[in-house]
Amino acid sequence: MRHTSILPLLAALPPTLGSPSQPSFANTTTLPTHFGLLVFDHFQALDVFGPMDVFNNLAMLYRNSTTMYLSILSKTMEPATTGMGMMAGSMEQRILPTTTFDEYLTGSEKDNAKPEACDDTSGSHKRAVRLGTRQHYSMPPTDPGEIEVLIVPGGGGTRNNMSSEIAFVRTLYPKLKYIISVCTGATIVARAGVLDGKKATTNKRSWTWAVQQGPNVTWVPTARWVEDGNVFSSSGVSAGIDVAYAFIARLYGEEVAQYLALSAEFVRAKDEHDDPFGKVWDVPGAT
Ligand SMILES: *[C@@H]1O[C@H](CO)[C@@H](O)[C@H](O)[C@H]1NC(C)=O
Ligand SMILES: *[C@@H]1O[C@H](CO)[C@@H](O)[C@H](O)[C@H]1NC(C)=O
Ligand SMILES: *[C@@H]1O[C@H](CO)[C@@H](O)[C@H](O)[C@H]1NC(C)=O
Ligand SMILES: *[C@@H]1O[C@H](CO)[C@@H](O)[C@H](O)[C@H]1NC(C)=O
Repeated sequence: MRHTSILPLLAALPPTLGSPSQPSFANTTTLPTHFGLLVFDHFQALDVFGPMDVFNNLAMLYRNSTTMYLSILSKTMEPATTGMGMMAGSMEQRILPTTTFDEYLTGSEKDNAKPEACDDTSGSHKRAVRLGTRQHYSMPPTDPGEIEVLIVPGGGGTRNNMSSEIAFVRTLYPKLKYIISVCTGATIVARAGVLDGKKATTNKRSWTWAVQQGPNVTWVPTARWVEDGNVFSSSGVSAGIDVAYAFIARLYGEEVAQYLALSAEFVRAKDEHDDPFGKVWDVPGAT
């Protein structure tokens, strides 16, 4: 049938026939609302924008159920670039931090010391970006509170001097509800000591180098992602999208995660052990 001949038929059908309907949150107890994204030069674009697109859509489609905030944290307020400065040309993208590590920790500690001063708008973590239909880079209408979930992307920059990023993760982790690493972002989390004694995974092509950054971590060679306590880690690059859905499935419900994936027209890996890339990249122990 030529597509022109089915158009009148489609127009006669109710628009929602057979379409998935949006499930509500199964779990409304203490869901996190303030997310943090750690950025640095030569971050991997998809490590950041894959998961962020998933969380953007969560914020947008569930704006009646939750109000979410994002702080974009970096060593300085300079735009962080995907570029490494080693190539001719200009194939790079940049992201604007909202808050420096120092500003966040200073504001955070000040507020902890004086909890009643929560209408004091000088705390720099209050510069979080409100996720949803009206995004802006100025003060959100209400105090987003402390960061509850930190997303740590990877990329070539993880092989540079990461001492500030590692120190920030080490300091912040005890105050977080969850941390999510993508790709070689696991090496930052590992060097912060967060993964010691825990199971985690990382980029399979960079495996040999990456696992050396965490000698006391139980690295899982065949895993799209790993969940251990409040730590989620994903395999390389695109796996960050799957760990974002897995995180949403765990906290907000599988139906919510699947609805978001259908909305994004994304085919999820739903089994964390479904990972062909360990073998592809000759990772020891991969099956
Ligand atoms: C609900 O979410 C909280 C975290 O916000 C989590 O600890 C808890 O296990 C979840 N409960 C269910 C039934 O999924
Ligand atoms: C949100 O609530 C408004 C007003 O109650 C309603 O019109 C709208 O359809 C709701 N949106 C979603 C995504 O549920
Ligand atoms: C790494 O950066 C920190 C500051 O961020 C600096 O103190 C340190 O000397 C640097 N280390 C190396 C090896 O360059
Ligand atoms: C690994 O664990 C051993 C034994 O607890 C400890 O001596 C060592 O310092 C740890 N290494 C790292 C890099 O944390």
